[in-house]
Amino acid sequence: MIISIDGPAGAGKSTVARALARSLGMGYLDTGAMYRALAEAALVEGVDPSDAAGLATLARERPVTLTPTPQGSEVTIGGVDVTEAIRRPRVSRVVSEVSSHRGVRDVMIEAQRRALAEGDWVAEGRDVGSNVAPHADVKVFLTASDGERARRRRADLASRGIRQDEGDVLSELRRRDALDRGRDADPLLIPDEAVVIDSSEMALDEVIACIADVVRSVESAGG
Ligand code: DC
Repeated sequence: MIISIDGPAGAGKSTVARALARSLGMGYLDTGAMYRALAEAALVEGVDPSDAAGLATLARERPVTLTPTPQGSEVTIGGVDVTEAIRRPRVSRVVSEVSSHRGVRDVMIEAQRRALAEGDWVAEGRDVGSNVAPHADVKVFLTASDGERARRRRADLASRGIRQDEGDVLSELRRRDALDRGRDADPLLIPDEAVVIDSSEMALDEVIACIADVVRSVESAGG
């Protein structure tokens, strides 16, 4: 079974997807971490976020690996551990542009489809249900109000020792959403057949219970 969880930045996708994967005994695929790893490698190598050809080459030359850990995934690119680095604001600032190029996406999506070809997965991102795995058994579009998303993202950063003003976090989220929704290549959208969940006023347990209900109804409909 594949469960896709797409939605804008800061909607709580990672927290929900990780917890759901754990409770259902499924694999967890963080597709955003793959684009973040490439953005980090590009920053280190001095490849400009607008350089489509340079980034596609870098993506081909430096495979990304995701290894499950209790906190989520350990992330490497070209053999270098970037688990911590990819959460830094400098990566968040450029990752939308890095991920907007067709050539970059082709490399990442091929790797994502290869991973999803076997086993049971909860996969989160922007285009999983609409594009990477349109055959997903359960598609969720998780969203939350702008204010709530900014508050959660700021708390998440603070837990990693990174302090940012809430206004700055909010404008950063809005800028990234506009880029992710507005790009030509696989934009963020609500997939056909997706269950839309607004988590603004829901606790993590409620969101997970809601998705688990959908999973059960799909399982019983499938016999
Ligand atoms: O989920 P995240 O914030 O870690 O994702 C970082 C960026 O990666 C996001 O702003 C857009 C891009 N992304 C994408 O283009 N497609 C995906 N399936 C996942 C993420």
